[in-house]
Amino acid sequence: MAEEDLPQVLAIEKASFTTPWGRWAFLVELKPPGYAFVYEEEGRILGYAVMRIVEDEGHLMNLSVAPPWRKRGIGSDLLRFCIEFCLHKGVSSLWLEVRESNEAAISLYQKMGFAVKGRRKSYYQDTGEDALLMGLSLPRKILQEAKVKAVRTMGPLCILELSLQSEIPFEPGQFVMIEAPGRPLMRPLSIFGLEKKMLKLLLRPVGTGTRALVEVHTGQTLRVLLPLGKGYPMPQGRQKAWLLAGGMGIASLFPLALKLSRKGIPVRLLWGARNSSWFPAPLLWQLTEKSISLELITEDGSMGRKGLITEVLPKEWENATVYACGPKEMMKRILSIIPPHVKVYVSLEERMACGVGACQACVLSGRGGNKLVCRDGPVFEREEIGDSLS
Ligand SMILES: Cc1cc2nc3c(=O)[nH]c(=O)nc-3n(C[C@H](O)[C@H](O)[C@H](O)COP(=O)(O)OP(=O)(O)OC[C@H]3O[C@@H](n4cnc5c(N)ncnc54)[C@H](O)[C@@H]3O)c2cc1C
Ligand code: FES
Repeated sequence: MAEEDLPQVLAIEKASFTTPWGRWAFLVELKPPGYAFVYEEEGRILGYAVMRIVEDEGHLMNLSVAPPWRKRGIGSDLLRFCIEFCLHKGVSSLWLEVRESNEAAISLYQKMGFAVKGRRKSYYQDTGEDALLMGLSLPRKILQEAKVKAVRTMGPLCILELSLQSEIPFEPGQFVMIEAPGRPLMRPLSIFGLEKKMLKLLLRPVGTGTRALVEVHTGQTLRVLLPLGKGYPMPQGRQKAWLLAGGMGIASLFPLALKLSRKGIPVRLLWGARNSSWFPAPLLWQLTEKSISLELITEDGSMGRKGLITEVLPKEWENATVYACGPKEMMKRILSIIPPHVKVYVSLEERMACGVGACQACVLSGRGGNKLVCRDGPVFEREEIGDSLS
């Protein structure tokens, strides 16, 4: 929010509250510890949020959406942005007061993970009504400043190597939220490798955030939240592992293949992609060097077998635990083909904003109830997701 936004902001404020803030109250919050954001479409302000951050505590002071634009998710987007902003700033808890009678606002805050923590008696001067004090805890401890060590382009893919501030253990299948320079929200990427303090990410530039990430330069610092979500469990007993990677799904299955092979578990990896440019030689060498049985499948037949991964699945599933990561359509098809008695773990992708279960952006709905892909996944056992992919 800038000073020139105030005429539009004050009009929304007046239409929204019985005791609206005046110009001076907004002006004070335009500089730290105040932070004010507007939601804008084609130069028109439709809503705004104002917060203060003091040390590691955030306080949401004001949030409003212009009356004609309500019930379109703008309030949720503003709140998500504030949560994400707090994560960037290393805030450990976010607080707000809300009128006890404002059921719509309370339900929005609860949906975003806020819980009622207390009550402020006769807080509102106009009616003498109580305010509910609501709070949200944020996982500050896992935010790291990572330094870019190398950016290696390999055909349509890129490996980003970053040096972390401290060593962190991880499970294959877990992911990071990483700052995309110049973009307000972090982006989720699977942990491709993490040894000592060296983090490796494999990515394909598809939009503004991932393009900004492949254009970073050595020595640049990026904020990273990690390790997030649940990883792949190990197979039980004397099972062998079948890994099914569709395109970028290799990013999460690659470290799993290496871990299984280190444990002496037989690994067969099927990796399907559009064409041969998706299979950089250094990655293929690393896999075959570890005695991983690797089968490549391309849609245009330029390398390996021609077709889709779902068309070349094996028929023999006895004593196999299956791990799959790829586009939604591929995952749906795999789950419908593999017999129900076979244990299957799938890693799912959803659009994410916070990555830590705080904003509800990545809800997966199904018969088994709602799940958050970032917190309850991204790896799920097939029974957990039921009909959610259909
Ligand atoms: C848990 C998890 C792990 C991931 N791991 C990797 C990884 O290791 N390497 C990698 O390259 N990508 C990975 N992704 C996908 C990656 O996060 C998105 O491609 C990225 O966020 C897109 O941001 P953008 O700003 O570049 O694109 P945008 O401008 O936001 O979108 C560009 C295009 O990409 C699509 N897109 C955006 N987000 C996603 C998403 N989450 N999943 C699928 N399509 C999306 C959009 O629909 C649009 O068509 C992962 C996603 C999740 C949820
Ligand atoms: S709850 Fe925020 S991304 Fe999952």
